[in-house]
Amino acid sequence: MMLTMLYEGKAKKVFATNNPQEVIIYFKDDATAFNGEKKDVFFDKGRVNLAFTRYFFELLHSHNIKTHIVSFIDDVSLKAQKVNIIPLEVVVRNYAAGSICRRLGFQKGLEFTPPLCEFYLKDDSLGDPILCREHIRYMNIIEEKELTEIEQTALSINKALFEHMDSFGVTLADFKLEFGKTTEGEIILADEISPDTCRFWIKGTMESLDKDVYREEKGDLISSYKKLANILGIKL
Ligand code: TMP
Repeated sequence: MMLTMLYEGKAKKVFATNNPQEVIIYFKDDATAFNGEKKDVFFDKGRVNLAFTRYFFELLHSHNIKTHIVSFIDDVSLKAQKVNIIPLEVVVRNYAAGSICRRLGFQKGLEFTPPLCEFYLKDDSLGDPILCREHIRYMNIIEEKELTEIEQTALSINKALFEHMDSFGVTLADFKLEFGKTTEGEIILADEISPDTCRFWIKGTMESLDKDVYREEKGDLISSYKKLANILGIKL
């Protein structure tokens, strides 16, 4: 059967299904960084990231967070509810790293209590710029109360993930979420949660078990992801 591809992103492909309300999301082995400037292929990355996404989304389901997941199809693809992706990258930061250090001069590892929630415009041609609430209002992306709902959900997700990872001796420094709107207008968590979209540090250190290994060329990416899976007891 030939599947119709609806969209190809940097790390995933989205295909139509017979059900107009559902899509298949395929996890590619591609890795990119710095808005696609750096690009490579890592054998097995798609399978490993899908296993993490399954693990984290199931954890969030147990915390009553609604997500787009319908079912897991195989090692590299899942079935999801078709949603209109809200063009915002929602980043929660517990510790300073990455762009916030480059942009604002924060020292890496500075703790944010309470955690920071930021919004970036999902637009590669503009380089995913950071937005304030007023920008979002004038862009008519979503309503003010929807933005507040997204922020609160992102912070609840942060609490659940942070405490879970901490119990395994791993610090969740920061992560990125994407949300989508269903045909009924409900906002649910979409996309993925994996070491591609989070910064995970071995507790008490800033040793990365995430895509910073690739961004900063600190070692073998897949070995780091597999080390994290092993710590969490994820069977690969
Ligand atoms: P940043 O420090 O580059 O702003 O990234 C913050 C977090 O968001 C980090 O965990 C990586 C994640 N992220 C993505 O998942 N996709 C992206 O396109 C970017 C820029 C960051």
